[in-house]
Amino acid sequence: MSKLENAVPGYKNLILEPYTPNIGAVVHDFDLARIGDEGDRAELRKALVEFQVLFFRQQHLTAEQQIEVARVFGDPDKTKAFFPRHERHSVIEVLETRPVGHRYGTDQWHADITFSANPPTGTVLYSHVIPAAGGDTLWASATAVYDSLPESLQRYLEELEAVHSFEHSGWPNYFAQLENGEAIYRKARADHLPVVHPVVRTHPVTGRKLVYVNPNFTDRIKGLSRQQSDALLAFIFAQFQRPEFQARLRWETNTVAIWDNRATVHYATADYDNQHRLLHRVTFGEDQAF
Ligand code: SIN
Repeated sequence: MSKLENAVPGYKNLILEPYTPNIGAVVHDFDLARIGDEGDRAELRKALVEFQVLFFRQQHLTAEQQIEVARVFGDPDKTKAFFPRHERHSVIEVLETRPVGHRYGTDQWHADITFSANPPTGTVLYSHVIPAAGGDTLWASATAVYDSLPESLQRYLEELEAVHSFEHSGWPNYFAQLENGEAIYRKARADHLPVVHPVVRTHPVTGRKLVYVNPNFTDRIKGLSRQQSDALLAFIFAQFQRPEFQARLRWETNTVAIWDNRATVHYATADYDNQHRLLHRVTFGEDQAF
């Protein structure tokens, strides 16, 4: 079947091909450097909440154009993580791993920056240098995970809140590798006190419920003992491992992935040893993510 025959109905400007039944779509023949009028923009926003992660191949974007892509979905000047920033545009985070040097802790399921009170609503990730093989990114649908749970467990989780903190993630180890790491770590702790989010959230656009915890940043569920909290979280996190809920992208250079950071978690596979990998990331947000 050709990609046109397989295209999702209801879209006039976008040729969308579902990537898996539960999550993801490829957007064919669309040049993100030349996004047109509100017709294009509205369909991109609709597709993002419908499919949760969108993939675009063979894109050629300047830094400014990548920021403009993010602007279709939200304000690029929202909360950021601790990655180095682009030399001219501080809203672009530079995710680079080199043959010799540190590794980031992104090889862990997470939604971006849930250690902040108002995490980004989404992310535009653009590949510049990709290993010959390896370094794939996986996304899992937090709505599909919620939908799969027994109703009694859904109801129970809906009453709970969880504490999120960057301290729980790989960031402190990353800071420790930096020359001025101790000072950066102290500042990060002062700037980012632990925050509390509901364990189940309702997506503000689709109205779908989703599990809003992740192993990178969620430290504990409030009101449970450490053992109870760890066991319950481990059960939820295990659902992210189910291939049925995942989309796995094999990057090529000049690929763009855009994801709904409210409805998904993602995992950057760290299997590429001493190869160079470079991506530019622009998170975007709204005044309130939920
Ligand atoms: C991220 O966690 O936002 C980065 C994912 C990746 O490097 O593939």
